[in-house]
Amino acid sequence: MIDIDKEKFCELFKEIKPEEIPDDVFTLVGKVFPVITAGKGGEFNSMTASGGGMGLLFRKHSVWLVIQQGRLTLELMKKEQSWSLSYFPDEYKKQVFFLGSKSGRDSDKMKEVELTAIPTPAGNIAFKEARLIIDCKLTQVTSIYADDFCTKESKAYIDEVYKDPNELRQYVFGEIVSVWVKK
Ligand SMILES: Cc1cc2nc3c(=O)[nH]c(=O)nc-3n(C[C@H](O)[C@H](O)[C@H](O)COP(=O)(O)O)c2cc1C
Repeated sequence: MIDIDKEKFCELFKEIKPEEIPDDVFTLVGKVFPVITAGKGGEFNSMTASGGGMGLLFRKHSVWLVIQQGRLTLELMKKEQSWSLSYFPDEYKKQVFFLGSKSGRDSDKMKEVELTAIPTPAGNIAFKEARLIIDCKLTQVTSIYADDFCTKESKAYIDEVYKDPNELRQYVFGEIVSVWVKK
């Protein structure tokens, strides 16, 4: 349920600069796992991610993600050109994995998940229980081609994955618009 207005969001979360993000990127991406949420109002959807990173792209603080092209969340990221990343304390691992366990295309997972959705001042949807939230705007979507891989291991990996055409992935790049930590 979305029940918190902008003022309440700012009571719960404090804005920080990207340079002040307290965690290292490998922990955030590979252990905490971001929950990506895209869409507006009643039509939003979340998925869990484990690939990606953060850094500078064309002088902008940026994030990048690796997303299978059939994900409903990716469709909404492209439609709205914006999304949030929510990072949760360990006690919410069950919910984080739940959002990565089934698609919003054929389930009511956003109603079932035991989390409270809240709008961010940037107009994205995120979650009250998150400890870190990053608002992003879409800068680039790039398809990933098996022929572009260079090492033997990475070629073998992508060839295996791409045997199923549903597994084709895209790199999604986004500019960091705002970063919030729980007060
Ligand atoms: C820990 C974890 C990490 C995941 N990482 C990714 C990822 O980086 N890219 C991706 O496309 N799917 C990833 N998934 C799978 C999606 O989160 C999952 O398929 C999700 O149900 C897609 O939801 P949607 O179709 O509603 O957008 C991950 C799942 C889990 C549990």
